[in-house]
Amino acid sequence: MVWSGLTPTVVEFFLLGFSFSEVGCIRTSSGKVVCCHFSSDGKLLASAGHEKKAVLWNMDTLQTESTPEEHTLIITDIRFRPNSTQLATSSFDRTVRLWNAAEPSYSLHKYTGHSSHVMSLDFHPKKTDLFCSCDGNGEIRYWSVGQYSSTRVTKGGMAQVRFQPRIGQLLAAAADNIVSLFDVDSDRQTHSLQGHSKEVNSICWDTSGDYLASVSQDCVRVWSINSGECIHELSSNGNKFHSCVFHPSYSTLLVIGGYQSLELWNMAENKSMTVPAHEGLIAALAQSPVTGMVASASHDKSVKLWK
Ligand SMILES: *[C@@H]1O[C@H](CO)[C@@H](O)[C@H](O)[C@H]1NC(C)=O
Ligand SMILES: *[C@@H]1O[C@H](CO)[C@@H](O)[C@H](O)[C@H]1NC(C)=O
Repeated sequence: MVWSGLTPTVVEFFLLGFSFSEVGCIRTSSGKVVCCHFSSDGKLLASAGHEKKAVLWNMDTLQTESTPEEHTLIITDIRFRPNSTQLATSSFDRTVRLWNAAEPSYSLHKYTGHSSHVMSLDFHPKKTDLFCSCDGNGEIRYWSVGQYSSTRVTKGGMAQVRFQPRIGQLLAAAADNIVSLFDVDSDRQTHSLQGHSKEVNSICWDTSGDYLASVSQDCVRVWSINSGECIHELSSNGNKFHSCVFHPSYSTLLVIGGYQSLELWNMAENKSMTVPAHEGLIAALAQSPVTGMVASASHDKSVKLWK
């Protein structure tokens, strides 16, 4: 157990039958880890960052494998294709690469076209031939997995892109302190979520696709897609927030990654607690609804598992 003390908030968390503790740690990296993602079946965890190669973690055996360093600069994001062992990585080297976790010794495909650092990518949840990526110039590119060139180029995403889960009607894209939502089919912007005073570092959807959370250094905001309004807000109170993920089993709980600690925020009751977690910034979080597992990736070069 890693509770920092039995404050009233902790007691309430316990009364709800809730527990959250570290169940595993890998330290296979020689550089900062900045991204991680679970495969749809929860059996694989992929992570990457400054080391320029992706690390694939078999969640049953806890054995790891690595891809070769085919990216020439740091990897910024890593995402599995839905219901697949295939995954893709985006990099400062302006490319996206496609891999197969079952045969990770070479990349299947390299996607070029971006004229700046590729900062993020995501696969569409239903049209699994479709993925998109965004770069440091705010350009969003849509790609067909089997083709070499992008099928559509638009603007409006810089730090991160994430498709709405389930039907994938919308794409959320963070650029500076604004989160934009675009209709995937028409490319029309449906929402411009404004309120952050600092740059948005990461965004995450809840599993229903009805809510979106956005994180900047000083606060987290949760938005209702129906109303387009911010419905919950939490100030970081000095801890530098950077990443977030909705808890896989408790839908009213948001897990937030900050500098060295995780913040567990019960949005319904507006109560939060701090869990010491890493020795550096927690740059990314992932979760698996299948296994109930949460993963945290940190600048301290490690990835940890929580349940
Ligand atoms: C992935 O598999 C799940 C469960 O079998 C299924 O419900 C879902 O539609 C699949 N998704 C895609 C994109 O094929
Ligand atoms: C949530 O709690 C924080 C601090 O505990 C407080 O500053 C904030 O106003 C509360 N928000 C709401 C919506 O009650």
